[in-house]
Amino acid sequence: GLKKKDVNVLCLGLDNSGKTTIINQLKPSNVFLFLYIHLISVLYAQDIVPTIGFSIEKFKTSSLSFTVFDMSGQGRYRNLWEHYYKEGQAIIFVIDSGDKLRMVVAKEELDTLLSHPDIKHRRIPILFFANKMDLRDALSAVKVSQLLCLENIKDKPWHICASDAVKGEGLQEGVDWLQDQIR
Ligand code: GTP
Ligand code: MG
Repeated sequence: GLKKKDVNVLCLGLDNSGKTTIINQLKPSNVFLFLYIHLISVLYAQDIVPTIGFSIEKFKTSSLSFTVFDMSGQGRYRNLWEHYYKEGQAIIFVIDSGDKLRMVVAKEELDTLLSHPDIKHRRIPILFFANKMDLRDALSAVKVSQLLCLENIKDKPWHICASDAVKGEGLQEGVDWLQDQIR
């Protein structure tokens, strides 16, 4: 068939927001490998582990082949993000909708990203996931977008989706939007 267009995506956001969980949902899964890993993780009673540094993952949509830089959101690794800004052709920014205390920190990191010279003057699409919508006290996507002042982003296409990365809900809508922005 036709060769899919390659696109580099940066997956950013605070630690524990759900970036790796989202990327894992989007990756093609080998069901037996998945069962095996699941069994091992149950045996060792641990879930997805925090990303150290970053990890590179790939997934495809109907017209695009994405290479995702799944960056660690931990404070000590956040200074790594900017080294990949030049490479990035799209951004997925993940927010934990249940983490009201750190919403200001997420906003600070977003503002730092948006004012970076490698991002500032580019019309790079940004997909926001207001993740963990399943949590009982989760903020709505509208509320998250208000707290992050997303309406101030005027020079880049952006979109926000509520998501539950554990169940995989809301992810496809976001990826469809991203694909439309890049074509
Ligand atoms: P770092 O790699 O440290 O930056 O974190 P991360 O953003 O990659 O978060 P990760 O995907 O490791 O998820 C952190 C925790 O949140 C894990 O225990 C996930 O199972 C959980 N989690 C992720 N998405 C959701 C969600 O939509 N709902 C709920 N309830 N939990 C979620
Ligand atoms: Mg991670």
